[in-house]
Amino acid sequence: MIIFNDVYKSFGPKKVLQGFSLEVPDGQTTVVIGYSGTGKSVALKHIVGLLDPDYGTVSVDGQLVHELDRKGLVALRSTIGFVFQFAALFDSLTVRENITLGLKRQQVPQREIDERIRESLALVDMEGSEDRYPIELSGGMRKRIGIARAIALKPQYLLYDEPTSGLDPVTSAVIDRLMVRAREKLGVTGLVVTHDMNSAYTVGDRIAMLYKGAIRQVGTVEQIQRTHDPIVRQFIEGRPEGAEDAGGLNTQAVS
Ligand SMILES: Nc1ncnc2c1ncn2[C@@H]1O[C@H](COP(=O)(O)OP(=O)(O)OP(=O)(O)O)[C@@H](O)[C@H]1O
Ligand SMILES: [Mg+2]
Repeated sequence: MIIFNDVYKSFGPKKVLQGFSLEVPDGQTTVVIGYSGTGKSVALKHIVGLLDPDYGTVSVDGQLVHELDRKGLVALRSTIGFVFQFAALFDSLTVRENITLGLKRQQVPQREIDERIRESLALVDMEGSEDRYPIELSGGMRKRIGIARAIALKPQYLLYDEPTSGLDPVTSAVIDRLMVRAREKLGVTGLVVTHDMNSAYTVGDRIAMLYKGAIRQVGTVEQIQRTHDPIVRQFIEGRPEGAEDAGGLNTQAVS
């Protein structure tokens, strides 16, 4: 289980997280929604020790992340797959080489590597793409390879940062289905950061909204859909600020 407990994080004068608390239960997918620039990616980075809190703690399976030494961090990161906001594949490497990098770092034996690559590509419906270069793939395919690369490490946790941003609705739905499949087939605990409400409703067991540095509301998909909290309602309905009386005018969420 991942637990954020009263986390504060600033960058110089810029206060980002201000009393952020959230529990990510095992075996489920928790979705964090919130406006652009509110600190969703910053929160994710605390889980793998890329950032340390100014105050408060983040723990994974009872271990305080900021207290881990180098070795402890390596061990922790081997249990966590990270799907980055911008697929973050190496353009000069093939799909196979991209996936192999992480497996070698974790000292997966060579004979197992090809099998892991095959399995993870099959799970994202990209079998046979081992020898292709990222540049030859569409944005949606690159996201799928990013997911395959994370899954190949057989993680206990999968963190997804904006997995559907920049994709058309149909391609986004494909990615959503893959995330659901990863949970069902691999039993991984998921934490998804997004401002795509369709995606949040499809993949989430629980949804939490980050607002002004803290969790404004957390609940099941149904609870969030029925919320009376004006801030949460405005976000999930994608209404621009101050447009409560816009006569049903619906626009996309600010991104
Ligand atoms: N390493 C850093 N140094 C300084 N400022 C940072 C750093 N990382 C993030 N920030 C700032 O923290 C704030 C939150 O950033 P973050 O990337 O977490 O937003 P986000 O919610 O993920 O937004 P988006 O939805 O656009 O991805 C931003 O103002 C950003 O400029
Ligand atoms: Mg972000």
